[in-house]
Amino acid sequence: MSGERKRLYIETVGCQMNVLDSEMVVAALRKEGYELTRDPDQADALFFNTCSVREHAEEKTYSSLGRFRMLKERRPEKLIGVLGCMAQKDQMQVFERVPFVDLVVGPGQLHRIPELLTAAASGAGRQLAVSLDRKAGSQESIRRSHETFDPLRDPEMRPTPFQAYLRIQIGCDKFCTYCVVPHTRGPEQGRPPPQILDEARLLAEQGCLEITLLGQTVNSYRFHDGTKLWRMADLLEHLHLIDGLRRIKFVTNYPKDMTGELLDTIARLPKVSPYLHVPAQSGSDRVLQRMKRGYTVSDYRAMMERIAERLPQASISSDFIVGFSGETDEDFQLTMDLVEQCQFKNSFIFKYSLRPGTKAAELLPDDVPAEVKSARNHALLELQDSISLRQQQQWIGRTVEVLVEGPSKHAMKRGMLGDLTQMTGRTHDDRIVVWDGNLRQAGQFLPVRIVDATAFTLLGTVVTQQVVGIGSPRMPDGATGDPHPLPLA
Ligand code: SAH
Ligand code: SF4
Ligand code: F3S
Repeated sequence: MSGERKRLYIETVGCQMNVLDSEMVVAALRKEGYELTRDPDQADALFFNTCSVREHAEEKTYSSLGRFRMLKERRPEKLIGVLGCMAQKDQMQVFERVPFVDLVVGPGQLHRIPELLTAAASGAGRQLAVSLDRKAGSQESIRRSHETFDPLRDPEMRPTPFQAYLRIQIGCDKFCTYCVVPHTRGPEQGRPPPQILDEARLLAEQGCLEITLLGQTVNSYRFHDGTKLWRMADLLEHLHLIDGLRRIKFVTNYPKDMTGELLDTIARLPKVSPYLHVPAQSGSDRVLQRMKRGYTVSDYRAMMERIAERLPQASISSDFIVGFSGETDEDFQLTMDLVEQCQFKNSFIFKYSLRPGTKAAELLPDDVPAEVKSARNHALLELQDSISLRQQQQWIGRTVEVLVEGPSKHAMKRGMLGDLTQMTGRTHDDRIVVWDGNLRQAGQFLPVRIVDATAFTLLGTVVTQQVVGIGSPRMPDGATGDPHPLPLA
């Protein structure tokens, strides 16, 4: 395929894992002479990187695919690929439901895409590449069938050159009863520390200032290298030594593994962001047990106390599922109580969606009516929004240090990308800040004084009269957005 330029169109839904996977797929295909296009009509290959976590995500993908039927009829040489979790879950059913699809590739088989594309282009017919199901072989063969090809980094594919995701763990073994991820992503495997550290060094050399470590239960990370057991805290210690990296974030955390030792390490390492996303899912022990989450509400509260003791300035965010099987009004009220007590920075709230192949689908009825799910979703969102707003308002008048990401969504939508434009960035504790600035600020750390707040966004102005930032004195009221001052450069 080398020589001629081909064009790739790619749509990505789902979590950060998928965003990273798409980055890798594009990097691999660039090596084969492809370039990216935003125009499906121009594309030689059209890829959909999919998510199965809720039915809605799948329906959206199938309807997106439907939009390309005419195009494929007109131009049958265009190759259509369904990648990711839905490819792994539905396998041959994807071809049955959307007969014009050429490739179905699970998340553990993405490294085979160049070879599969070549086969499909040369008339070899439909190509299916998926990992082994969780019971379809020996532990080792199942594990090997869920591979990642992370070392291929392409800085051009990242949303900003100074931020990157770095996978440290693939798969999940927690088997929460509602969840499809252990089935689509396979067994939990920590990547070897030397690979992770090399990749982080490479990213830093490419100008990356902030890395976000990815894993389904990222703080449960373990890797035994023959002599030593590496845990998350060990990785953080080593990553912290890499020159050039200024911020280290990680998602998603599992409450049970948020140990005092890990929190002590986070508190000690100034580059590690004081931001923890730790989904609780429910505030009722009865529901947590049916979800098989492996902790009680009092375990979760004890974790919140451990965090408050060691990282009093940290922001915490959570996920909740409402309307899970058997959830009563009383159970839901307990979730509302937990949200009120925990004062999360924000929460992602989802209506329970039954997923075929999970334990809940097999054993537990999806018995909360749709309108009750919607009402609970709405009530919990409203409560969380009021908490977020109250918390955000406390930042008014303070100065925070922001890593500038680029023009805000608002500016992008309106095409207002002149020299003076609304810019956006994040604080060390992951709050979104916007201000009127200019495109040249992208990639800088800037002090921004907060003048207004919504539940999701802090609005500010760049502080120009004094240089706050690396090694700067704290603000007189001690109220910078950066509870971890960065080390002197
Ligand atoms: N590994 C992460 C979450 C991955 S999925 C963790 O354990 O926290 C992201 C979120 O989707 C979950 O936290 C959960 O709140 C939600 N989710 C997962 N399965 C779901 C389902 N079947 N219905 C509705 N929400 C679901
Ligand atoms: Fe799914 Fe639970 Fe694993 Fe998260 S920890 S990916 S919710 S099974
Ligand atoms: Fe979706 Fe797969 Fe991520 S199911 S949430 S894309 S791991």
